Amino acid sequence: MIPVIAIDGPTASGKGTVAQLVAQALGYHYLDSGAIYRLAALTSLRAGLAADDEPALASLAALAAGLDIRFMDGQIWLSGESVGDTIRAEEIGNLASAIAVFPALRQALLARQQAFRRAPGLVADGRDMGTIVFPDAGLKVFLTASAEVRAQRRYKQLIEKGFPASISTLLQDLKDRDARDANRAAAPLKPAEGASVLDTTEMTVDQAVAQVLAWQAQKTSS
Ligand code: CDP
Repeated sequence: MIPVIAIDGPTASGKGTVAQLVAQALGYHYLDSGAIYRLAALTSLRAGLAADDEPALASLAALAAGLDIRFMDGQIWLSGESVGDTIRAEEIGNLASAIAVFPALRQALLARQQAFRRAPGLVADGRDMGTIVFPDAGLKVFLTASAEVRAQRRYKQLIEKGFPASISTLLQDLKDRDARDANRAAAPLKPAEGASVLDTTEMTVDQAVAQVLAWQAQKTSS
């Protein structure tokens, strides 16, 4: 069985950064499942589909199943176009969260995410990696941090990418996103059974990575 480390948690909790570094340290593959939802959001935006139009989203689910997505050279490609930075915009993140409530879309993206499980192993980050996509993951981590610290982290990330941002708007948006992700019926955001909870409010990235690696070492030695 190919090992999987599932890292789930709320928006801007640092999952992506921690998951990538853990993958690097172990020589594992990395799946940014949020990027797949963001690519679906970008596709729906470009197709002019409204996020609350369920029939339109049924066609998006069909479209999403066939999206030409490639993660290559540290870049994200959609039909040959490099969109890694475009999909980081808050508008796309918020739209991703809005469309992610539709079960048909989640179903369409399920097998695509599972296909990332390749030897020697996978670190996957998202909302439902440990609950739905890889329920048999050997290690499940729920990574979180206070809303205020997450808003600051997201602010820094957006400013570095050259996007305009305001801490107070980000704080409100992330609280809205938390509520929507946690309260939806399909694959709500919650710690998987048996998940180790890691609150990184007062931790550096290196400390968080070291903790996940220590948990993984414990699992593989027992
Ligand atoms: O970067 P951030 O944590 O804000 O978001 P993301 O991981 O890029 O995901 C964007 C949105 O996609 C989230 O707000 C979720 O609603 C949705 N998503 C999901 O439903 N399931 C996943 N496995 C990953 C993301």
